[in-house]
Amino acid sequence: MNIWMGPGLLPAAGLHDELAGCEGLLCLLTDRIDASLIEANPQLRFIASMSVGVDHIDVKAATARGIVVGNTPGVLVETTADASFALLLAAARRLVEADRFVRGGHWRVENAWSPEFFTGKDVAGATLGIVGLGEVGQAVARRAAGFGMKVLAWNRTPRNVPGVEAVELDELLAASDFVSINLALGEETRNLIDERRLALMKRDAVLVNTSRGGIVDEQALADALSHDRLAAAGLDVFEREPVPEDHPLLSLPNVVATPHIGSATEATRIKMADMAALNMLEALRGEPMPHCVNPEVYPS
Ligand code: GLV
Ligand code: GLV
Repeated sequence: MNIWMGPGLLPAAGLHDELAGCEGLLCLLTDRIDASLIEANPQLRFIASMSVGVDHIDVKAATARGIVVGNTPGVLVETTADASFALLLAAARRLVEADRFVRGGHWRVENAWSPEFFTGKDVAGATLGIVGLGEVGQAVARRAAGFGMKVLAWNRTPRNVPGVEAVELDELLAASDFVSINLALGEETRNLIDERRLALMKRDAVLVNTSRGGIVDEQALADALSHDRLAAAGLDVFEREPVPEDHPLLSLPNVVATPHIGSATEATRIKMADMAALNMLEALRGEPMPHCVNPEVYPS
């Protein structure tokens, strides 16, 4: 058994070396498991990722080779929905900008309190559009109900959820004061929120993304935010992670950025680790993985 203990992430070349001869791999979302890695390891039988998203794994290539791929759904739902709402509130009420203002000594220097001082947007009573009404999207909807929000949602396969109005994506973007992205990244969702769709959003709307950066065209988002075509964004995920320091989104005061910490509570991370370990142990014993994203690899 090879275990990477750090420090830091296991570099791609290191993963290549460590995997030689291994039947199974327990990995993180930072490990890229592409077709060439899979092809270089014909002995590999299963991959258990400590994540719900599996966009870092070429599942198609794995399936073609009969490799079982497991993930950790369910246990991070409420934690991630909390993160979506935290970003939504922080962006709406300019919390991070205000914190920087206080710490920077500006409050004292400018002695500023005025009726317009740090005014943001009301969340209570506003319209929230949820893009992707899976488990996390539905948990976000439950939180929104507590804030008296009107909730719209779009899902690729329409879902009937009480208190949530199902609408087309373009309609959702045009009608929402807040848009929360709660969708897996895949071929159909890459760049889903592109320049045209961002232009449909209200000028004073706020975009929140805790799913995957690749779903949003970041350049178009930065353009919209810097030209007052969008009020603010709360982003936990980026197309490239770690996000480069000189990324155009990071120079904007109306962006709240966090480093992919949507599921980051101690309790949830323990549950995710347990679930990934259980997936791996069951696969090692020759049993079906309890949480498998490509069950078609098992003979029926
Ligand atoms: C987190 O982003 C996950 O996919 O678990
Ligand atoms: C705000 O703090 C108020 O007193 O109106």
